Amino acid sequence: MIQFKNFVAAFGGRKVIRALTFNLPANSITAIIGASGSGKTTLLRALCRMNDRVKNFRVEGNVLIDGMDIYRPDTDVYALRRNVGLVFQKPCVFPKSIFDNAVFGVKEKMHRKEYPDLVEKVLREVFLWEEVKDRLGEKATTLSQGQQQRLTLARTLAVGPQVLLMDEPTSSLDPKSTAAIEKLVQSLKSRHTILWVTHQHDQAHSIADKVLIIENGQIAPFETPVARPEQSSSFTRVLQNVQEYPE
Ligand SMILES: Nc1ncnc2c1ncn2[C@@H]1O[C@H](COP(=O)(O)OP(=O)(O)OP(=O)(O)O)[C@@H](O)[C@H]1O
Ligand SMILES: [Mg+2]
Repeated sequence: MIQFKNFVAAFGGRKVIRALTFNLPANSITAIIGASGSGKTTLLRALCRMNDRVKNFRVEGNVLIDGMDIYRPDTDVYALRRNVGLVFQKPCVFPKSIFDNAVFGVKEKMHRKEYPDLVEKVLREVFLWEEVKDRLGEKATTLSQGQQQRLTLARTLAVGPQVLLMDEPTSSLDPKSTAAIEKLVQSLKSRHTILWVTHQHDQAHSIADKVLIIENGQIAPFETPVARPEQSSSFTRVLQNVQEYPE
C-alpha cells in the first residue's frame, strides 16, 4: 500500500504537486489522467526519489510505502529503487544483447549461473520469450518498439520490484503492442502495485481498478469509479480489436 499524506513536490517556489492525499492499494492498478504539465511524471519520479539531484526540487508531507516514509533521511535510496520500478514512455534498451538487457539490473546481486533461468522467467512474464528465445545474443536495438518496451519491463521485473510505475508506457506503440502491454499489466497485478499514467481515458478505464484525475497538482475532487461488472468485456474488446488489426 502506498500512502500520500499532504504531499507537496516543488521546483523552487513553484509547487507542482500540492498537498496530495490519497492511497494506492496493493495488488491493484491505479490510472492517473491529467493534462500535459499537470505533474504526473513529477509524481512518479518522486515515488522513486529520482528528483533528489534536481536543483531546487523539494518535498513536503509524506509518502509511505508499506508504512515506511520514503523521504526519511535514513532511507536506502538504492533499495527503494529496486522496490519501485519505473517504465518510461519510450522503450529504453541498452546497446547490449537481449540477454544482457534482461539481467542488467541484477548483475551484482546474482551468480552468473542463475542468469539463464532468470532471463527465461522474466521474458516469459512479459510474453516475449517465444519471440526472442532463439536470438538472445542479438542486440536489443534490433527488436521492434513493442518488443523493446516489453524487454524494458522484463529488465525492471528482474530486479523484483513490488511497485511498478508506468509513465505513458504505450504512447509510442502500435495498437497490437499496446494491447500486449495492457494484457501484461493485468497479469502482473496480483503481485504488484501498479500506477499507470495515460492520456487515454478509454485505456485508463479498461485497465485500471481506479482512475484518478490530476489537476493543478491535486487529485480532482471526483474519483472516477470504474464500472467493474462488465470489465472483462472492455478488456476483451481491446484484444478483439487487435486481432482484427493487420499484421
Ligand atoms: N527538472 C525540472 N525543473 C523545473 N521544473 C520542472 C522540472 N521537471 C518538471 N518541471 C515542471 O513541473 C511541471 C509538471 O511537469 P511533469 O513533467 O510532471 O508534467 P506531466 O503531467 O508529466 O506532463 P506530460 O503529460 O506532458 O508528460 C511542469 O510545469 C514542468 O515544467
Ligand atoms: Mg509526463
